[in-house]
Amino acid sequence: MIRDNLLLVARGLRKSFALPDGGSIRAVDGVDFDLCSGETLAVVGESGCGKTTLARLLVRLEQPEEGEINFLGCDWLRASGRELRQLRRQMQMIFQDPYSSLDPRQRIASAIGEPLRIHEPGTSSSDRRRRIEEVMDAVGLGQESLDRYPHEYSGGQRQRVAIARALALRPKLVVADEPVSALDPSIGAQILDLLVRLQTEYGLTYLFISHSMPVVAQLATRIAVMREGRFVEIGSAEQILNRPAQPYTKTLIDAVPELPVQPGGFTAG
Ligand SMILES: Nc1ncnc2c1ncn2[C@@H]1O[C@H](COP(=O)(O)OP(=O)(O)O)[C@@H](O)[C@H]1O
Ligand SMILES: [Mg+2]
Repeated sequence: MIRDNLLLVARGLRKSFALPDGGSIRAVDGVDFDLCSGETLAVVGESGCGKTTLARLLVRLEQPEEGEINFLGCDWLRASGRELRQLRRQMQMIFQDPYSSLDPRQRIASAIGEPLRIHEPGTSSSDRRRRIEEVMDAVGLGQESLDRYPHEYSGGQRQRVAIARALALRPKLVVADEPVSALDPSIGAQILDLLVRLQTEYGLTYLFISHSMPVVAQLATRIAVMREGRFVEIGSAEQILNRPAQPYTKTLIDAVPELPVQPGGFTAG
């Protein structure tokens, strides 16, 4: 991949949390990686290895003790004011739990339109409506959904709403933290297909987090294996899945699939 394509560069990211006994845990313990436009970098590792903390550092929900992130050529961790607002809209996050990530009192059209209202207050309500309808169509939600509430929907439909909301501003980078782990396997498979389709349609770059190697095998172009706060191995999906260098990676590959796996799916995207 060529350097011109570089979207994000993360170096030396560290984040610890205080423990009740007075000690601390290093949730993210020196993580480095580059992200190029159009790729899907999957971060895979067991529960507790630091994946969500890493995602939260990337979208600035959490501040690292150490480390640098360059995003779109800017110093992302020190950006403020206008620069911060312009960068923030280019990076959106999809969360694991589509039940808690949507406000139960907000109608679906309003939830999807909220980022537009915040970032583009000058947009007319009819233009905003058009953008909401377009993005709902892209994620496979019919116009009858506009005035409904999240509780009227299943987990899969809610995750579609969350994806539409993330895409409303047409971001460059989407950080997806276990977006299918809370869903039934067959519904999860549909959401993965949707993410793959949207990547082409919207020119997205994904940082895709999962505890499941069979899941990431379906859409990753590169895979980083995370353990105890560090990347123990990073490489092309083809290399990691077929010729893992670390025995730990092999144990993740040999774990029982939770989703119907499509043969050769990792070449997609
Ligand atoms: N806010 C927090 N306070 C204290 N410990 C935390 C906090 N968030 C995460 N941790 C700890 O950091 C480690 C990594 O957690 P997390 O990033 O959620 O991992 P993963 O998403 O891979 O399951 C775990 O040991 C977890 O208990
Ligand atoms: Mg997590």
